[in-house]
Amino acid sequence: MFPILAARTLAPLVKEFVIDARPVALKAKAGQFIVLRIDETGERIPLTIAGVDATQGTVRIVFLEVGKSTRKLGTLGAGDSLLDFVGPLGNPSHVEKFGTVVCIGGGVGVPAVLPIAHALKAAGNHVIGITGARRADLLILEDEMRGACHELFVTTDDGSRGDRGLVTDPLRRFIAEGRKIDLVVAVGPAIMMKAVAAATQPHGLKTVVSLNSVMVDGTGMCGGCRVTVGGQTKFVCVDGPEFDAHQVNFDELMMRQRMYRNQEKTALTRYDECRSAQPREEVTSRG
Ligand SMILES: Cc1cc2nc3c(=O)[nH]c(=O)nc-3n(C[C@H](O)[C@H](O)[C@H](O)COP(=O)(O)OP(=O)(O)OC[C@H]3O[C@@H](n4cnc5c(N)ncnc54)[C@H](O)[C@@H]3O)c2cc1C
Ligand code: FES
Repeated sequence: MFPILAARTLAPLVKEFVIDARPVALKAKAGQFIVLRIDETGERIPLTIAGVDATQGTVRIVFLEVGKSTRKLGTLGAGDSLLDFVGPLGNPSHVEKFGTVVCIGGGVGVPAVLPIAHALKAAGNHVIGITGARRADLLILEDEMRGACHELFVTTDDGSRGDRGLVTDPLRRFIAEGRKIDLVVAVGPAIMMKAVAAATQPHGLKTVVSLNSVMVDGTGMCGGCRVTVGGQTKFVCVDGPEFDAHQVNFDELMMRQRMYRNQEKTALTRYDECRSAQPREEVTSRG
């Protein structure tokens, strides 16, 4: 079992857990992920490693409650335990001294880009961060991003914090101003990563994205996470999660992410009905 040592809410429906998982903490590198299961009947949930403390043997995860499994995960808290916590999975980010790197995080892509920004800064790069959300209250880990970057630009769709607009706006501005950029790293919703790729491609700016396709086993066996990159089939769990953004077929990725929408909706409705039918004390202690 993997105990949850600390839990906090970062934004509405966004939670952070610190998990006691020494074997993962000792090996994890920026860009990798874990797959967890809450209990015997639980689905596998892939989540990016948002940080580790190798001395304490702990791993930090941050998740958005989007459906049945993440909602159930959100009912847990410090003192509860997870049945499985497998990792680190996927290839680590390629880290070297590139020069100037722009690290972009949107929504729950911010905790994923944070360790990458830290690693790139430690490798001697000048790191420019761009972080965005729909509204100020949904913006997470801004202070930590500020610490991981030399410069940080914040955007919100409604202008309630930082500049009004999308994360691609400052990026397009840097490009228009002729700022020297050697690498762009973007993690967030597929539509955001597609927009980043569209902004950088005409200028030949090397751009890397971390894909969040639907995963089942996380070990290359099931084919669930299949994506097309440069016309070739790749499995995000073993070939990625990071790929050359200009080669990714984002439309196919988004179509495959929506593939089980009806089943996911039904599962969530059933879960909510079950929870509201249960007497209060039978619902998990943190429910
Ligand atoms: C490598 C990787 C890293 C990720 N890191 C994070 C993270 O750090 N924080 C975070 O909030 N989310 C992350 N995700 C997405 C997260 O795994 C899904 O939100 C979660 O599995 C949804 O499960 P659910 O039952 O709550 O939702 P569901 O109702 O089952 O699905 C809601 C949506 O979530 C996506 N999804 C569903 N099942 C899976 C699955 N098995 N694998 C991937 N996506 C799925 C689909 O797009 C789906 O439409 C990551 C996904 C991958 C592949
Ligand atoms: S999740 Fe099964 S092949 Fe990648």
